[in-house]
Amino acid sequence: MSTTVITGAQWGDEGKGRFVDFLARQAGCVVRYQGGDNAGHTVIIDSEEFKLHLVPSGIFYPHKINIIGNGVVVNPAALLKELRMLESSGIDVSGLRICARAHLILPWHMKFDELSELGRGNADIGTTKKGIGPAYMDKAERSGIRVGDLIDFDVFVRKLTLYAKAKNDILEKIYGEPGIDVNKVIEDYKYYASVMMPYITDGIALLHELISKGENILFEGAQGTLLDLNIGTYPYVTSSHPIAGGVCVGAGVGPKLIDNVLGIVKAYTTRVGKGPFVTELRDGTGDAIREKGHEYGATTGRARRCGWLDAVILKYAVRVNGLTHLAVTRMDILGGFDTVKICTGYRYRGEVTDVFPARWELLNEYEPVYEELKGWDDNISHIKRFEDLPENAQKYIGRIEELSGVPVAMIGVGARRDQAIVRMEMF
Ligand code: IMP
Repeated sequence: MSTTVITGAQWGDEGKGRFVDFLARQAGCVVRYQGGDNAGHTVIIDSEEFKLHLVPSGIFYPHKINIIGNGVVVNPAALLKELRMLESSGIDVSGLRICARAHLILPWHMKFDELSELGRGNADIGTTKKGIGPAYMDKAERSGIRVGDLIDFDVFVRKLTLYAKAKNDILEKIYGEPGIDVNKVIEDYKYYASVMMPYITDGIALLHELISKGENILFEGAQGTLLDLNIGTYPYVTSSHPIAGGVCVGAGVGPKLIDNVLGIVKAYTTRVGKGPFVTELRDGTGDAIREKGHEYGATTGRARRCGWLDAVILKYAVRVNGLTHLAVTRMDILGGFDTVKICTGYRYRGEVTDVFPARWELLNEYEPVYEELKGWDDNISHIKRFEDLPENAQKYIGRIEELSGVPVAMIGVGARRDQAIVRMEMF
């Protein structure tokens, strides 16, 4: 038995879904441990593209258990839509399990997400408006309603009625907005409950049963290190814990049960939403990366901001996640340039640092210190062995290993399932 956490080492969208899909073939169970349908994991199988938001990316393998863990916030409408999409493509979803401890996203959460963003004006975070922040707020405030509350629907109705009164008061009296029709919510959630019922379980008990049976377990992170509520560029973060430590609270396992922590790093950097980004390219090179890499959000369709690889962020991600391995994605997209750059430090008032700052405001004053490397041909998507990569691409990977101090176990050279170079196995 062995366990591996897959976590994003940047601002999300690193291409985690394809490596979860890849590693899931050797795992008995895949667990999502945080976030909600703000995530968008793209998996391409036989040239068919699937965008998953809530269901773990191991669902494409029959007979595997896929747990939506206690740390996830579940929007039942989004979940049902996703299950229908999968079933209409002939995917068997019977291996899905939803932890009864996971919290439900309710229509109020989406509404409050929208209203808080509006209220922030120019200082908005650029959230996905999926209600993620407000759902975690209710959880922390202990007024949230959980997936397990759907099992005895009378319990759900009782809790929701109390909850709705408090929230509609805020909508009506503070925001001057109409309240949300509680009867309609009850009717909708009654239907959702009937569809979700076969999947609801004690996710923690199930996970530990599988661990004791010797199954390999894969923990699938959503978003990325710099979007972590505690560790990221607060307040331009999400409201959950994408870092590897998030597995402990979001899936219910102790840290000693984690064997490998695989950090997924895009060969360049992207970010959606607002907030500082030292290596951002606001020029033709940034546009070229965006277009070539189709860097548009899987969840919201928003254009992603693009820039060079930032090794300061990478070192930070190594520290806070305890990364044991790296997977570098999209090496084909970064191909075709004469030269490419890696940021090795930030210059601030004449001094250079490679420590990611605690106050993101400083990032606006930091200037990137770049190292320039020779580029490589982008026609590498057929390559299966590291030694067959162009020499300059090998050097780029080597430099990432030197700067991070972590071995690169996998390299993505194309979007398809088979377009990856595997140098080390996780299981
Ligand atoms: P929220 O998670 O919708 O509250 O959004 C908070 C911040 O996280 C915003 O900047 C979003 O763009 C960003 N974010 C949320 N989910 C993802 C993701 O899956 N990939 C990249 N950025 C994300």
